[in-house]
This record gives sequence, C-alpha cells and structure tokens, in this order.
Amino acid sequence: MSTPTSPRIEPFKAPTGTRDVLPPESDRWQALIAAFADHVGRAGYGLVQSPMFEEIGVFSRVGEGTDLVRKEMYDFLDKGERRIALRPEGTASIARAWIQHAQGEPKPWKVWYAAPSFRYERPQAGRYRQHHQLGLEAIGTEDADLDVEVITMLHDFYVGLGLKQVTLLINSMGTVEDRRRYIDDVREWLRERSADLDPTDAEKIDDHPMRVLDSKRPVTIAAIVDVPRITDRLSPEGAERFERVKVGLTALGIEFTVEPRLVRGLDYYTHTTFEFVSEALDAAQSTIGGGGRYDGLVESLGGPSTPGIGFGSGIERILLTCDAEGVFETSSTGVDVFVVDTIGGDAARDLTVELRRSGVSADRAFEGRSMKSQMKAADKSGAALVLIVGSDEAESNSVTIRDLRGDTGQETVSRNSVVDVVAARLS
Ligand code: HAM
Repeated sequence: MSTPTSPRIEPFKAPTGTRDVLPPESDRWQALIAAFADHVGRAGYGLVQSPMFEEIGVFSRVGEGTDLVRKEMYDFLDKGERRIALRPEGTASIARAWIQHAQGEPKPWKVWYAAPSFRYERPQAGRYRQHHQLGLEAIGTEDADLDVEVITMLHDFYVGLGLKQVTLLINSMGTVEDRRRYIDDVREWLRERSADLDPTDAEKIDDHPMRVLDSKRPVTIAAIVDVPRITDRLSPEGAERFERVKVGLTALGIEFTVEPRLVRGLDYYTHTTFEFVSEALDAAQSTIGGGGRYDGLVESLGGPSTPGIGFGSGIERILLTCDAEGVFETSSTGVDVFVVDTIGGDAARDLTVELRRSGVSADRAFEGRSMKSQMKAADKSGAALVLIVGSDEAESNSVTIRDLRGDTGQETVSRNSVVDVVAARLS
C-alpha cells in the first residue's frame, strides 16, 4: 500500500506592492532612520509611535475628494463591527494623538515618526501599497518661522545624506478663507472649460475642483495652463506670511522655486505647502518628500482650532534617490569575532556567550560543519578575528586567534585569557 503524499503547496509570496527588506539592505534602513532620529532629535523633536490603524473617520478628514480616501484606503469592519482603516499617511494620527494626550504640552508640540503607510495604489518602482515615511509634525504654533524650521529640517537632512540633485518647490494656499475663496474661483473657471478637460477630471469640478489641478492627465494639464494662481489671490495676511517664509528660506541659503499649482494630494493644507523633487528619479515617483501647514485639521478631528505643520518623506524613495546619486552607502555592520570549533565540543557555545557577555560582538557556526565551511561563514560574518578550537587547542586548553583583516597573523593563547586578549586587540 502506498502512503498518500500531501499535495504540493505553492510557496507564498509577499502581497503585490509590498517588499521584504532583508539584510544587508535593512542595515541601510536602520542607518537612515538613525540618522533622521539624530537629526530631528537635536532640534527638539520626540518620537511618537501611534497605532497602525484608526477609526476610519480620522483619515477621512484628510480629504473626502482625494484618491487617498476614495480609492486607496485599506478599510474593513473589525470583529466588533467598527469601521477601521490602516494608516494611509501619518499626519491625521498625530493630530488625533495631540487632541487626545498633548493639548496641555508646551507649543509647538514637536514630534517625529518612522512608520508604514498603506495605500491601494498601482504598484511600480518607487510606489508601493505599503511604504514607510520618515515624518515630522509641529502642532500649536502659527509663527511662519516654524514653517521655515520644518522645511529646513528636511532640506538639511537630504543634504546630510549627500544628495545634491533635489529641488524644493513651495506654494501657499493662504488662510482657510483664502483657500475657500480660491476653490470657488477655480470651480467657476473650470466650469467654463469643462469640455476641454479629460472627462474623468471634468466630473470632479463641482465637488473637488482642487483635484483637477493635480491631475496627471495630459489633456487636463494642457487645458489648465492658465488656471488662476493662488499666489495672485492671497489675502494680505496670507501674502505677508508667505513672504516671511520665503525671506527665511533665503536667509538660510535654501534655494526654492515658487510653484503656484502645488496644491498637493490632500485637502487639509493651508498657507505653506512644499515638495522636494529629485532630478535623479523618474518623474512619476520623483517627489521624495512633501508637506505643509494644516491649520484646520485639528479642528476637523474634534479638537480646538489649532495650527500645525509637518512633512513626510518615503524611505524607499529616499534610498532610490541615494542609489541614483551614489551616496549614503552603508557597510554591513556584522560581528567582530567568529568562533570556529572543529571538534564539535562545548567551546563554540561557551566561548561565544562569554565574548558577548564581555561586550564583544561574536558569532559562530552550528552543526559541526567542516573547517572550510566554518571559515567561509567567518569570512561572510565580517569578523576581524577568528577564534579556532581544534583538537590541539582542546588538548592544551588554548585557543588560536587568527587575524582575517590585518597582518598580525596567528597566535595561540590560553583559554582563560582569550576573552581579555581579544577585547584588548579589538580596542
Ligand atoms: P504625501 O505627499 O502623500 O504626504 O506623502 C509623503 C511622501 O511619502 C511622498 O513624498 C513620498 O516620498 C512617500 N510616498 C507616498 N506614497 C507613496 C507610495 N505609494 N509608495 C512609496 N512612497 C510613497 C503625506 O503623506 C503627508 N502626511 C505629509 C505631511 C506631513 N504633511 C504635513 N505633515
């Protein structure tokens, strides 16, 4: 009687639009996040870890007319029949957290995050269904100098990574009132030209005219070349504020281009909006970071009328840009010491732990592999020193230290002193 064989299972793969980040690539992610944490930490920003999902209402406030809310959210009913969405962007969660916990804190409340965001988009290089943002938010202060600080933080971060081909675009949406008036003007203007627009965009004129302005459809782009510019219609208050931001950036030596059609893909923006665009990436994914002021968002989430400003920058896009410019190359960290035990005794087990407990980074091979195979593993581990325990060493209660990187060759020392000798040689 033959034994039944189980059906072959097709191996699972990560979902479309997601990526596994494995070593050594993940070393670079760690280094990037650490560099960002250090950079913003030195300017007084503290880390916030917010939930990866929220009640859907938190995210709907970023714009009922946006693709993000209408088409791209990962939303579902949980087992308690609550309508939940995975975080599509970081700002709404931070504003919700400020309302819930931090209203009494000194203003501005300055925080940062490194967090995944989920958007059901058409995946391509630099555009994923799960991407990761380095972001920063400052809540509670209207001062235009804070806009300058926030833009400068991102600019200087890119410069610190070594990026050179990144351009800053800025715009102002004006006050909440300016923005509202401008939307009405644009709606009127577009209505008169609806026949010239791509039909999909023409449908948005009544409810979401701003979304027509960031259309990527060539017919629409050509038809709206002369659309009214918000920068020509700012109230004196809006214009003065924008001027102060421009003066501040100039004083700090930060070059920028005013782009009056930079309305951004989310509805919460007022006053300053900005994007950093990489000339080294394909146009479709060339925005590596963006942000702006959102003076109405906190109120729309049920909090007191409170201003805020921040940015988000995709880790994947930053690293693509670094690759394209050949900067921010990190070397794999690895370990300092590798223990090779050719007699399959207790030496590898005990010595490796002793080394680690004394602060030396160490690794070992398992399953009593051959000397050749263990030496190969040692080489791959990045170790500078290999500690060899073979039959001679076991007999004389000693360990041989071999230098893989330098030219000090090989020495045999007593088992009792080996940890001290290694520590001394590494320091
Ligand atoms: P956002 O422009 O939608 O803004 O996204 C910020 C950045 O996240 C983009 O510039 C890009 O680098 C990256 N990104 C967005 N979507 C994807 C994707 N599908 N795949 C890869 N990377 C992506 C926001 O999310 C706002 N919360 C920014 C902000 C903070 N505004 C004020 N404070």
